[in-house]
Amino acid sequence: MFKCISDICDNTPFIISDLISWKKNLSSPNAVSPNKLTRIVEYIAVFCRKEEYDTFYMNKKVVSKSKNRGQNYYENIPNYIEAENNDGVCFLNRATYSTELCEKLLSLYAKISDSTFVYDPFMGTGTTANACKNLKLNCIGSEISKEQCDFAEKRLTIGVEVYKDRESYFGENEHKKEELFV
Ligand SMILES: C[S@@+](CC[C@H](N)C(=O)[O-])C[C@H]1O[C@@H](n2cnc3c(N)ncnc32)[C@H](O)[C@@H]1O
Repeated sequence: MFKCISDICDNTPFIISDLISWKKNLSSPNAVSPNKLTRIVEYIAVFCRKEEYDTFYMNKKVVSKSKNRGQNYYENIPNYIEAENNDGVCFLNRATYSTELCEKLLSLYAKISDSTFVYDPFMGTGTTANACKNLKLNCIGSEISKEQCDFAEKRLTIGVEVYKDRESYFGENEHKKEELFV
């Protein structure tokens, strides 16, 4: 992970601005590994454009101002978030995260405004878009798997939940099967 972060900083217009520890409710590996610690924390790297390192927008409130120098002091937001792993294990994608995590991150970084657009280049089952919907943010996504695109669309429009397996998904939506996966 650190090599990857280093490569991005060296070879792209982006630089890391924060590293957030995400404490999940479940971890892996747990009981099956003889020599690895239980990974209950994952790291979220926050990148910004190099030229915007000191100026990019964040929802941090000013709590006081120095009378002499006029310097702003901002609220204290720790680089630690507790959130569910996912919204339920999904048969279409085993590497999702949770709407809860996404909402917490967007609440830090997304300006709540009609003109804000969140872009998720790897949308999967639409968890980011679901969080945007809850926070009333515009969202655009790309996803290479049509099946997941269709699922995300239905999730956002008719509100289907994440399903553990194909059978239970189609079982409960049998009458919508053709409509769900066309
Ligand atoms: C880790 S998953 C994202 C899961 C998503 N956050 C969710 O909650 O469902 C990564 C996704 O990127 C998609 N993907 C991989 N390469 C892609 C590409 N070149 N363009 C668009 N999507 C791609 C995969 O199909 C996969 O669904």
